[in-house]
Amino acid sequence: MDHNMKSRPGGHPGGQPGSHGHPGGHGHPGDHGHPGGHPSRFGQAYDGTPPWDIGRPQSAIVELEEAGKIKGTVLDAGCGTGENALYLAGRGHEVLGIDGVDRAIEKARQKAAERGVAAHFEVVDAVDLSNIGRTFDTVIDVGLFHSFDDEQRLLWTKSLATVLAPGGRYFVVTFSDRVQFSGGPRRIRKGEFADTFKVGFRVVSVDESHLDSNRAMREVPAWLATIERTHGEA
Ligand SMILES: C[S@@+](CC[C@H](N)C(=O)[O-])C[C@H]1O[C@@H](n2cnc3c(N)ncnc32)[C@H](O)[C@@H]1O
Repeated sequence: MDHNMKSRPGGHPGGQPGSHGHPGGHGHPGDHGHPGGHPSRFGQAYDGTPPWDIGRPQSAIVELEEAGKIKGTVLDAGCGTGENALYLAGRGHEVLGIDGVDRAIEKARQKAAERGVAAHFEVVDAVDLSNIGRTFDTVIDVGLFHSFDDEQRLLWTKSLATVLAPGGRYFVVTFSDRVQFSGGPRRIRKGEFADTFKVGFRVVSVDESHLDSNRAMREVPAWLATIERTHGEA
């Protein structure tokens, strides 16, 4: 599948690869060090098994799919090693997973080949998706949004608007401000979704959820936000 996407062989997009983004770990207060800055830092995380790389899809994504909320073609933004994308492809969706880290995409492609699943994976900067040159019915984001700083967040809304079809939905699972331990990515307040997705989008709902982790704390408090693309520029 050639989406004419801008590939970044170095895997250095603009987002903050961190700990869910957190190479440090989930559930160990003090070792959630959020590196901040650049996805190249996420790259080191993929030399091993980071806390979010749980070897199965996140339960929030499984619940959305089983409820029939994930429609049509899917872009998994910040897909990591691809478990969510592979799950959705196995459920019959046409899926493209993108990540800024080469090693993550290599691992995702290897899993797809080993499992015989027809998901596609590309190294692409999430804050510059317009070069993909197509839209999707659904965009999922598990752990990407909360890794952006304010500037990247603004770029992300504009980038997202180029790939989400009008009426399509963006499902985003982020660390929430109910997280108790220190370290890890920035915590998101419930109201930040409405503050961020003001133009070109409509916030449908923001619900309490959790992120599954392979560290001692198995579940991290999260928000699941459902955001619909309306029309026009973001
Ligand atoms: C916490 S991980 C979650 C990975 C995957 N969604 C999962 O649930 O396993 C966040 C991912 O976002 C990626 N990422 C961060 N900033 C990015 C950017 N600007 N463009 C593409 N990927 C980015 C990181 O490389 C990392 O794989």
